[in-house]
Amino acid sequence: MIDNPTAGEPPALKPVWDIPTRVFHWLLAALVITGWLLGEFGPPVKTWHFYCGYAIGTLVVLRMLRGIFGAPPNNFVSFLYGPKTTLKYALSLFSRKPSHWPGHNPMGGWSVFAMLLLLAVQVSTGLFASDKDYISDGPLNKWVSSDMRLELTYIHNVNAKILLAVIGLHVFMILFYLIWKRENLVGPMLTGKKQVRTTTDNETS
Ligand code: HEM
Repeated sequence: MIDNPTAGEPPALKPVWDIPTRVFHWLLAALVITGWLLGEFGPPVKTWHFYCGYAIGTLVVLRMLRGIFGAPPNNFVSFLYGPKTTLKYALSLFSRKPSHWPGHNPMGGWSVFAMLLLLAVQVSTGLFASDKDYISDGPLNKWVSSDMRLELTYIHNVNAKILLAVIGLHVFMILFYLIWKRENLVGPMLTGKKQVRTTTDNETS
C-alpha cells in the first residue's frame, strides 16, 4: 500500500536529506540557472558559461557515484521503483493528501534520474560544441570532425530545451504538492527534516 496511512497521528519529523544532498541541490540549481542565463544572454566569450558547465559536470558525476554506491535515501536502488509501484503512485497523485514519502517518491525519483541524465548529456555535448560565431568553442571541440561537431552542437541546443521543460515540470510539481496535496517539499530540502510515514509499507508492492 502506498497511500498515506497516518490517519490519526501526525507523521513523525525525521532527518531525510543530509547536508551533502542539500548543498548539492541548491548549488546545482544555482549553477544550472546561471549557466543557462549566460549561455542564452551572456557575452559572446563564454568563459563563465564553461565554468558553470565544469562545476555542473563535477556535481553530476559525484551524484551519480552516490546514486550507485551510496546509502538510502540517496542511492538509485532506494528511489528508482519498478513500473507497478510507480503506476500505483501515479494513480494516487491527485488525491488531496500529502504522501509523506521517506525520500523521493516513485515519480519524483524517476524525474531526478532523468534530470541527472539530461544534465550529463548537456555537459558532455557542450565540451565538443561549436559556438555559432566561433568565438567560444567547447574545449574538446578540435577532437571531433566538423560533422560530429555540428551534430553535438545540435544535441546541446535541443537538450537545453528539454532540460528546461523537465526543470519547469520539477518546480511545477513542487508547487502542486504544496498547493494541491498540502505537502511542503522545499522545507525538507532546506532543513533536512521531513514528515514521513510511520508505518513500514511494502514499497515494492
Ligand atoms: C535548475 C534548477 C533545478 C535543478 C537542476 C534541480 C534538480 C534537482 C535534483 C537533481 C534533485 C534530487 C536531489 C538529490 O536526490 O540529490 C532535486 C530535488 C528537489 N528539488 Fe530541485 N532542482 C532545481 C530547482 C529547484 C527549485 C527552484 C526548487 C524549489 C522550488 C526545487 C526543489 C526541490 C525539492 C523540494 C526536491 C526534493 C523533492 C523530493 O522530496 O523528492 N528544485 N532537484
